[in-house]
Amino acid sequence: MCNITYQIGDCRELLRQVPDASVKLVVTSPPYNIGKPYGIYQDKIALNDWEDLLRDVSREVFRILTPDGSFFLNLSPIPYGKGREILPLPFFGYQILKDSGFFLRNMITWTFNNMQNCTNRLSGRYENILWAVKDLDHYIFNLDEVRIPFLSKNDKRLEGKSGRNPTDVWYFDRVNNMTKKKLGLQHPTVYPLPMILRILKMSSNPGDTVLDPFVGSGTTLVAAKLLGRNGIGFEIDSRYAPEIEKRLQQEGSCED
Ligand SMILES: C[S@@+](CC[C@H](N)C(=O)[O-])C[C@H]1O[C@@H](n2cnc3c(N)ncnc32)[C@H](O)[C@@H]1O
Repeated sequence: MCNITYQIGDCRELLRQVPDASVKLVVTSPPYNIGKPYGIYQDKIALNDWEDLLRDVSREVFRILTPDGSFFLNLSPIPYGKGREILPLPFFGYQILKDSGFFLRNMITWTFNNMQNCTNRLSGRYENILWAVKDLDHYIFNLDEVRIPFLSKNDKRLEGKSGRNPTDVWYFDRVNNMTKKKLGLQHPTVYPLPMILRILKMSSNPGDTVLDPFVGSGTTLVAAKLLGRNGIGFEIDSRYAPEIEKRLQQEGSCED
């Protein structure tokens, strides 16, 4: 039977209560410091403070992960400061992961089409998901769970084979306002559920514990429930608790 829990509070404090080596997978999308209207959390702070937040979380994540555990950290290049120079947050994320003791297994490019167009530079169409592991020789990679259709349908050599490696470039539509309205969600940055399902299938097994320290509207918990994983979520703003509750009831039906 899977167990899904969430707590409202600052993940830097809540993570300290999680026992060492008790979590198989951490998946998260932290705030990007771009002024999103989250509520309690002010999404425009000094860059040093943002790095400190990520550093504290990454260190704790390293501690709570099992030796074969994985950390999927979603970050994006952002327009920043005067002149809106592009600041590559994934580069900061990489350094923070290394300083915490992790090894980078893949830097996934998540690409999408549904995003605004720019007139003074190329329109942004990707984010990165840094897949970090504690041990490069010992981690979960359920490739057969995440294979995708072959490009060629008529190649006889592929008959009976179950599909190809999904590669490190993933296409998933961003969750648009229409979908959010349909699901009754106010949260400004909801993850695409199919993408999180792929990560959970690939890097955890049924019964494992999955944690998201910045859980927002609860997408990671819905995925955990759908796939029979235990889920733990932390969110600083209590306004999102009803959204998490509703999603767990409407979208999550536990397979155990
Ligand atoms: C990018 S959103 C996550 C969205 C989530 N992936 C989803 O699908 O709904 C980041 C979330 O982190 C929360 N947050 C910011 N600082 C936090 C902290 N110190 N502890 C816990 N949550 C925090 C924000 O309120 C926001 O909901």
